[in-house]
Amino acid sequence: HKHILGTEYLSSEDIQLILDTADSFKEINSREIKKVPTLRGKTIINLFYEASTRTRISFEIAGKRLSADTVNISASASSVVKGETLEDTAKNLEAMAPDIIVMRHSASGAPHYLAERVGCSVINAGDGAHEHPSQALLDLLTIRQHKGTLKGLTVAIVGDISHSRVARSDLYAMKTMGMNVRLVGPGTMVPPGIERLGAEVYTDMDQALRGADVVMMLRIQLERQGKPLIPSVREYARFYGLNPSRLALAAKDAIVMHPGPMNRGVEISSYVADGPQNVILEQVENGVAVRMALLYLVAGGEHPQ
Ligand code: CP
Repeated sequence: HKHILGTEYLSSEDIQLILDTADSFKEINSREIKKVPTLRGKTIINLFYEASTRTRISFEIAGKRLSADTVNISASASSVVKGETLEDTAKNLEAMAPDIIVMRHSASGAPHYLAERVGCSVINAGDGAHEHPSQALLDLLTIRQHKGTLKGLTVAIVGDISHSRVARSDLYAMKTMGMNVRLVGPGTMVPPGIERLGAEVYTDMDQALRGADVVMMLRIQLERQGKPLIPSVREYARFYGLNPSRLALAAKDAIVMHPGPMNRGVEISSYVADGPQNVILEQVENGVAVRMALLYLVAGGEHPQ
């Protein structure tokens, strides 16, 4: 079975195929009747052990648009609260013969663990601080749509890099596609040694933004921080918040991205979040097409002509 566990494992040809397939599915999403029979008879389980708005709903919509039967379980409404282990949950889901399990979990590596134990495809919808591959792919689709290409572009990813599975998946995928990646944040939020993965590391946001084609803002993951928070939220907003004057340092046609959920007034001001350079809701729109592409390809689909 094919799995999508991380962008670390995807070649540039794989990424190209996923983006091209997503492009061809975008047309379906603009139709009045947004449904094709492609995955009729397939069963998809969305297994979410952590909160989600965008990822869970867009995987569900993506499955439904391709006519798959999609079912959702969140850990809080499942027998996980009664102490069932991931291994037992996996065996029980397996007994219901799904074709694809989409999983989000707070533990890094949980989807890999699941993939070894079930006889169907597994798609990682975010595992701890490790990877969030479908997010990185929708980010690339959005960038390609605006810039026409990926190779040679410079991206500044700003924020809590240490806890960000989005940053890690983006970094792998962007390096694979020949992009320059600048990671920016306070020393307390950038993991030591990350430059070994090909990133340039900055603590000065103004320097990092200079000439960037893409500015990607991340939220501080308050639920994963130690106490006290260093820097404080107020200091963070002052040194790493994106406002119009900071954005002016980037390329004139730079686009502003955010995976969501946003903390307005902390990492991004509303002037920028709602301003003319933001493509944040286009990312969400592209998320449906990318997830349709992933479900289709994992289920054995060929490149649509
Ligand atoms: N970007 C993202 O993963 O959002 P959710 O946590 O709402 O799915």
